[in-house]
Amino acid sequence: MENILSRRSIRRFTDQEVTEEQITSLLKAAMSAPSAGNRQPWEFIIIKNRETMDKIPEFHKYSKMLSTANLAIVVCGNTTKSFEKGFWVQDCAAATQNILLAAHSMELGSVWCGLYPNKERYSQMQELLELPKEIMPVSLIAIGYPDEEKPPSERFDENKIHYEKW
Ligand SMILES: Cc1cc2nc3c(=O)[nH]c(=O)nc-3n(C[C@H](O)[C@H](O)[C@H](O)COP(=O)(O)O)c2cc1C
Repeated sequence: MENILSRRSIRRFTDQEVTEEQITSLLKAAMSAPSAGNRQPWEFIIIKNRETMDKIPEFHKYSKMLSTANLAIVVCGNTTKSFEKGFWVQDCAAATQNILLAAHSMELGSVWCGLYPNKERYSQMQELLELPKEIMPVSLIAIGYPDEEKPPSERFDENKIHYEKW
């Protein structure tokens, strides 16, 4: 609970490197996510190349934090492996959230940048990463050691809870 309640989006990072072991842990967390029919229709692109990272804000205006990020992970859905049409989106969202929580538990900062269903963003990302057409990039996660601190955000709202019926 402590980890979940204190996670925040971090958009400024130090230049300390994220290690290969940490990346493996993040991916283990991602692949432990639930998925419809347990199809696990996800694929992960690990980006460390500065040139590649610098190209992303050219077509994704809300990803400028990549300028200080050490690492980016693009979570993609293999649309041909989905359990029924469209469930791959939710599967990839679950994997994305697992990465954010794992990163926070490892004292890394991260932020989820949305790609799908914004056509401009996901198609440009497909082109940049040379993804086959059935591989849809759902989210990009910028990761690094935090260079900002944020207090937990209190969002619990009783008005959003409905018992039995609306
Ligand atoms: C589907 C989705 C897309 C998002 N896209 C972006 C984005 O493109 N850029 C960004 O800086 N933050 C993005 N965020 C992060 C949200 O802005 C952030 O989670 C929200 O403001 C709540 O803040 P917190 O994560 O610190 O609790 C996205 C979050 C989600 C779930």
